[in-house]
Amino acid sequence: MDATEASCVKAVATALAYMPGFGNDFETEALPGALPRGQNSPQKCNYGLYAEQLSGSPFTAPRGTNERSWLYRIRPSVRHTRRFSNASYPFWKSAPCLEDHSLPLGQLRWDPIPSPATGTDFLSGIRTMTTAGDVLSQAGMAAHAYAINDDMVDDYFFNADGELLIVPQLGAICVFTEMGVIEVEPAEICLIPRGMMMRVSRIGDEPEARGYICENYGAKFTMPERGPIGANCLANARDFKTPVAAFEDKETTCRVHVKWCGRFYTTEIGHSPLDVVAWHGNYTPFKYDLRTFSPVGAILFDHPDPSIFTVLTAPSGEDGTANVDFVIFPPRWLVAEHTFRPPWYHRNIMSEFMGLIHGQYDAKEKGFVPGGMSLHNMMLPHGPDASGFLKASNMELAPVKLDHTMAFMFETRFPQQLTKYAAELETLQDDYISCWDGLERRFDGTPGIK
Ligand SMILES: [Fe+2]
Repeated sequence: MDATEASCVKAVATALAYMPGFGNDFETEALPGALPRGQNSPQKCNYGLYAEQLSGSPFTAPRGTNERSWLYRIRPSVRHTRRFSNASYPFWKSAPCLEDHSLPLGQLRWDPIPSPATGTDFLSGIRTMTTAGDVLSQAGMAAHAYAINDDMVDDYFFNADGELLIVPQLGAICVFTEMGVIEVEPAEICLIPRGMMMRVSRIGDEPEARGYICENYGAKFTMPERGPIGANCLANARDFKTPVAAFEDKETTCRVHVKWCGRFYTTEIGHSPLDVVAWHGNYTPFKYDLRTFSPVGAILFDHPDPSIFTVLTAPSGEDGTANVDFVIFPPRWLVAEHTFRPPWYHRNIMSEFMGLIHGQYDAKEKGFVPGGMSLHNMMLPHGPDASGFLKASNMELAPVKLDHTMAFMFETRFPQQLTKYAAELETLQDDYISCWDGLERRFDGTPGIK
């Protein structure tokens, strides 16, 4: 099947459409009257559908964090799994993952991962770079890169270990979920909740699709508090888009793959598990266009911490200490006076995994390329490279538009452990540490601007 034929939209009984809002209580039906009125669980559902609840939080979670949806489907989910057999996706790792490799501690950077072998779909195309925390205690995350050149057609997947925040970097993909179809392209993201059935195919002209994934084992991503910023800016709720109901009515041999507590399992069934005709609730997948993020920053001098660019945050239970923050570095005006404008030098108790979707990141003059990655782990110093420092220290401080750029960061409270794959990857840059070599001593004991 080529990429064009793989467009999910052709296979569904409803048009591709989205409903705006973050965490709303949505309702949608792909066939008229499929959604029960006034109750969740009628004695008999219209069209002969089965009613089923999918809970993303404990039943007893406080109202503000209580998430569940009611699905009305051709078969209940118990018919979407049969006896499981063990499966293996050896490059998809889960925390704790303390693999044996000889790479010492250090600030690290990679060029894009190599192209995959022919016939690599989303499941087989995921390469874990780092893991953090512990999947068994639902804390921490994994940072993955993916590169795919094939589509999931009769293969389906759900991840019981965490939600997937997918960040395309090259090529658009279609994620057909139980609750509708999401098409997402570079500079957009999508989030697939824990436990949600899905399949992924490529769309558009690119034979290969690439990107990054944050697998969040912990509490769900939500929008950060804005504090004194007020009720607007940063990510706005209306720019999050949840798909309308869509389903496959397919009675062919299909395989369902499951990731559960770091291990993989497969089961075979005789139909598509994407059979939800209508649903209502607030446990949903969504997409978001990073270009709609309204950045807030310095308008006189200095600049805020990069947390000012947080799109989504997954809390850890400790105030202000995220299990994971998803932070972007979008196009913006730089106007600060008498200020070193790039991100400053620093060390951090948090651990920072960065990727670049397109353009150039302002703290690095060269070497950090789109599709590449960097890792600045807990308490390891980092900051602008030598040429970036010189340029920013000597530039005329007129207003400058930092344009055509989109970098991001998965920042977690837990140290990120390298996988053996990442440690031995051929695209690991041996000389990254030398990007700071040119930062010579400038101090000579005499006062004055040097
Ligand atoms: Fe940093």
